[in-house]
Amino acid sequence: MSVSETNPVMTTYARQPVMFRRGKGAWLWDTDGKRYFDALCGIAVCGLGHAHPQVTEAICAQAAELLHTSNLYRIDHQEKLAELLTRASGLDNAFFCNSGAEANEVALKIARRYGNDLGVDGPTVITMDGSFHGRTMATLSATGNPKVQQGFEPLVPGFIHVPYGDTDAVSEVMAQNKNVVAVLVEPVQGEGGVVVPPDGYLESLRTICDRHDALLMLDEVQSGMGRTGKWFAFQHENVVPDVMTLAKSLGNGVPIGACLAGPKAANIMQPGMHGSTFGGNPLACRAALAVISTINGDSLTDRAAALSQRIFADFKKKLKDLSAVKEVRGKGLMIGIELDRSCGELVARGLDAGVLINVAADNVVRLLPPLIMSDDEAGSMVSTVCDLIEAFCGDD
Ligand SMILES: Cc1ncc(COP(=O)(O)O)c(C=O)c1O
Repeated sequence: MSVSETNPVMTTYARQPVMFRRGKGAWLWDTDGKRYFDALCGIAVCGLGHAHPQVTEAICAQAAELLHTSNLYRIDHQEKLAELLTRASGLDNAFFCNSGAEANEVALKIARRYGNDLGVDGPTVITMDGSFHGRTMATLSATGNPKVQQGFEPLVPGFIHVPYGDTDAVSEVMAQNKNVVAVLVEPVQGEGGVVVPPDGYLESLRTICDRHDALLMLDEVQSGMGRTGKWFAFQHENVVPDVMTLAKSLGNGVPIGACLAGPKAANIMQPGMHGSTFGGNPLACRAALAVISTINGDSLTDRAAALSQRIFADFKKKLKDLSAVKEVRGKGLMIGIELDRSCGELVARGLDAGVLINVAADNVVRLLPPLIMSDDEAGSMVSTVCDLIEAFCGDD
C-alpha cells in the first residue's frame, strides 16, 4: 500500500519522526520523555513559551464561561482586543480571523476594493520576490516563491513581484503601471530566509505609496507581537502602514489572525463584504488579551531586544572563524544563520541534540525562540546550535 493509503492524515507535510506530549516554558517533552529546547516556537507562534500560566488560566476560564457566539452579535473580548491592538499600532480598527493567510486575504480584498472604488481598471498589488504570505489561492499568488505556486495555476491575477529591498524597482513599476493600488511586504522576510531589508526601506516605501496614492500593507504575521523587540517590526522605522496583518503569536497557539487598517483603509470594508465564522470568537480573543497583558506586564518587547543583542553577539563571536557561515542576521528574536551549503539535515541533527530548529530557503538556519527564555537558556541554545553547525560543516 502507498503511504496515502495507510495514512489517514493528508500528506501535505514532510514531518519529523517525533511527537510531543507536553511543554513548559521554552521546553518540550516527546512521547518517550526526551526533553528538547524549542528554538522555533511552532514557527513563531508560542512567543510566551508553552503552557504559559496566564494564557492557560485565561483559556480555561473562558472555556468554562463561553466559547463561541457569532459575529452576528457583539463580542466584548473582541472589542477590547481591537482597542489594544489599535492603540499599540496607531491604526484605527481590526478584523479578526483565524490564520495569517486569512489575515492577508482581508488585506488583499481591501486593496482590490480600494482600487475598484477609485475606478482603477484591474487593481494590482506589488509584492516581493522571496516573500511568503500564505497558502490560499490569493496569498500563494501574492507569495514570491514559485515552489509555493507550482501546480496550482491559474494563479490569482493582479500581482507584480519585485526584488525585496529594492525601492527603485517599486518606483519604476508604479510609474509604468497606473493599476498599482498597494504594496504588500514583510518588514523582515521569514520563510524567505530571515532577510532584513536596508535601513529606511519601509520609510521609502511609505513615501512612494503616498506619491502614488497606494496602500502600504505590512505582513507582520511572523514579525509582530514583540518578536523583533518592538510590538511591530515597522516601529523600528518612522512609519505607519495603512494595513497590517497579524496571526501566529497573537494567540500563543490559539488560532487567531487580525487585519488592522489605518485612516485610508479603515472604512473600506462594510457589512456583508467579508466575514469569518470563528474569527475573533470569545476564546481566541481572551487568549490574545492574555498574551498582550503578559507582554506588557513582563516588558517582553524590551526583553526580546536585550536577548537579541546578546544572542547575536554570541553567535557572531562563536561562528566568526567558520568559513561555511556566510552571514548571521535578523532582527530581535528572528535569527538567521546563512551557510554556504544546503543544510536541511541540521533539523534532524538538532532533534538528536535536543533542540528544535528550522531551515529556511535551503541554507539558512532559522531560530525563532521564545521571548520568555532565560539568559542561561539563550546561552545554551547558542552553544548547541554552534556545535551543530560546526560539526555539520566539518563533515566534508
Ligand atoms: C509572513 C507570513 N505571512 C503569512 C503566513 C501564513 O500564515 P498561516 O500559516 O497562519 O496562514 C506566514 C506563515 O508562515 C508568514 O510567515
